[in-house]
Amino acid sequence: MILALETSCDETSAAVVIQGTVRSNVVASQIRVHSEYGGVVPELATREHLRNILPVVRSALDQAGVTLSQVSLVAATRGPGLPAALLAGYTTAQAVAYALNVPLLGIHHHEAHLYSPWIIGKPPRAAFEQFEPNISLIVSGGHTLLVHVTGGLRHRVLGSTLDDAAGECFDKVAKLLALPYPGGPVLDELAESGNAAAFDFPRSLLHESHDDFSFSGLKTSVRYFLLKRPELLEDSKSLRDICASVRAAIVDVLVRKTVRAARRMAVSCVTASGGVSCNRALRRQFAEECSRAGLRLHLADPVFCTDNAAMVGILAEQKWLAGEPPTPWDAETRPGWPLEEESTPLKAPAASSGSSKSGTY
Ligand code: KG4
Ligand code: ZN
Repeated sequence: MILALETSCDETSAAVVIQGTVRSNVVASQIRVHSEYGGVVPELATREHLRNILPVVRSALDQAGVTLSQVSLVAATRGPGLPAALLAGYTTAQAVAYALNVPLLGIHHHEAHLYSPWIIGKPPRAAFEQFEPNISLIVSGGHTLLVHVTGGLRHRVLGSTLDDAAGECFDKVAKLLALPYPGGPVLDELAESGNAAAFDFPRSLLHESHDDFSFSGLKTSVRYFLLKRPELLEDSKSLRDICASVRAAIVDVLVRKTVRAARRMAVSCVTASGGVSCNRALRRQFAEECSRAGLRLHLADPVFCTDNAAMVGILAEQKWLAGEPPTPWDAETRPGWPLEEESTPLKAPAASSGSSKSGTY
């Protein structure tokens, strides 16, 4: 039985995972704490994690109907993330594992996102028997990554953002539009009733042959556009049209570059995860374009899009089954841990929750 913790940014989360099934996944969001500052304040995030981590662990155990003494492996996000926020969850995990005399696995946050689209159903379980090599888009407030996941817990980063992350762009544009924090979901909501063709915002690097992204130009173009036409912010229809047009520019680039990479790499599956993969236009456009291109699509369930410990526990179990050694007690957190380093093939293919399809995973 795995107890998993996640504190890389502004969600304090604990989960219990047993044989590929998520038995509980408790998330204490800090949105209220950070909203008056219009963004995550690292010092406040750490204090909130310290305040919440033990109650969240207790709730996760209670909801799963288990006790601490049943835990046989502790997993925690080791990086990347806010340095002090990571420490709050990781040192708690170290202490629990040490006290229980069970192994500890430090998990890469983005690697956990990579496999989150496979957590499906009720109760949620890792459907790794359906796993197939894929192109995976990770889109959050801090990162935009395009990754080729080949199987056997191996992957290769194809591209990333050269400046702002997609979620950061949503949030910064929302700020320019004077929308409340967190901007992404609010902008998404307004965009639903706007006209995406009303204004033409740039789609940076869409036609470049590489897999990198850039979103700071879009943010700047919205800033200049509003300087020229500030009156549009006073009109609710125009505001909704701006939201829809900006959303379309971001989503267009994300979806089209992901589908293009899938075709180029000759895979037949696309996945997406991270907070921005909650975006409704992104989900619709992915569904349309993947169906047109004959690609199977696995979008993370909205519950597992934003940061959560369930995905950490699910990946930890796979790694453990595949022979990953425990993380040494003196290992430190890695706030800048690159995803590429995690692509070392493991000794054996992981057996998933009871069933593994011909060793593809
Ligand atoms: O993965 P996540 O919870 O945390 C990070 O690791 O960053 O992602 C948070 C990001 C924020 O930028 C938020 O505005 C964005 O995801 N987000 C959205 C939506 N829901 C969350 N962006 C656009 N549309 C949404 N519906
Ligand atoms: Zn994340």
